[in-house]
Amino acid sequence: MLLKLPNVLTASELASINQALQGADWIDGRTTAGAQAATVKHNQQLDPEDSVCQHIRQTVLQALQRDPLFYSAVLPDKILPPFVNRYTGNSNYYGWHVDSALRAAPEGGRLRTDVSATLFLNAPDQYEGGELVIQDTFGEQRVKLAAGSLVVYPASSVHAVLPVTQGQRLACFMFIQSLVRDTTQRRYLFELDMALVKLRQQVGESAEVVSLTGLYHNLLRSWSA
Ligand code: NI
Repeated sequence: MLLKLPNVLTASELASINQALQGADWIDGRTTAGAQAATVKHNQQLDPEDSVCQHIRQTVLQALQRDPLFYSAVLPDKILPPFVNRYTGNSNYYGWHVDSALRAAPEGGRLRTDVSATLFLNAPDQYEGGELVIQDTFGEQRVKLAAGSLVVYPASSVHAVLPVTQGQRLACFMFIQSLVRDTTQRRYLFELDMALVKLRQQVGESAEVVSLTGLYHNLLRSWSA
């Protein structure tokens, strides 16, 4: 399931992030890529130890925590703190690749990458190209969103970032281990939850709504790790 979430960041959070990025020092993006991905990765990233990166990480993680749609769609268990990247000049694309299945978690141990997410940090009219292209069961999807908007998609999909031919593309990406490992089960839960939200608005807490809410939680109980 590919889902676009508008306005994950507020205007003031975006302004604060873009302000911080103005003085940022960029390094080669290949430092965080796996062996296959590194051969096709041509972009720049912030050093995770950099104070600008730390500020952005904190802001983005707080924003995700308050977003009910993100929670319902992803059912996050662990979130790998976001990496901040820039595509411009000669470092302007990321060829077809898959994301590594396992990552070292910051608190120790490992994180299984179930869901990938890209948060766009500058406006699409500030650069040419730079679409995130994702191959999934419905074919190829091209994504280029407003600043502050997020796309989530299965980490198992093959994807690429097309060359930025003018301007610069600023974004951050992150990996999430979901409470529900299976993509299809996660999608069923999301669809059920969204239907329940609408049904509750239409009919209130009817006996059927309560029963279906119970079904949602029982499925989550069965399917979560
Ligand atoms: Ni990737």
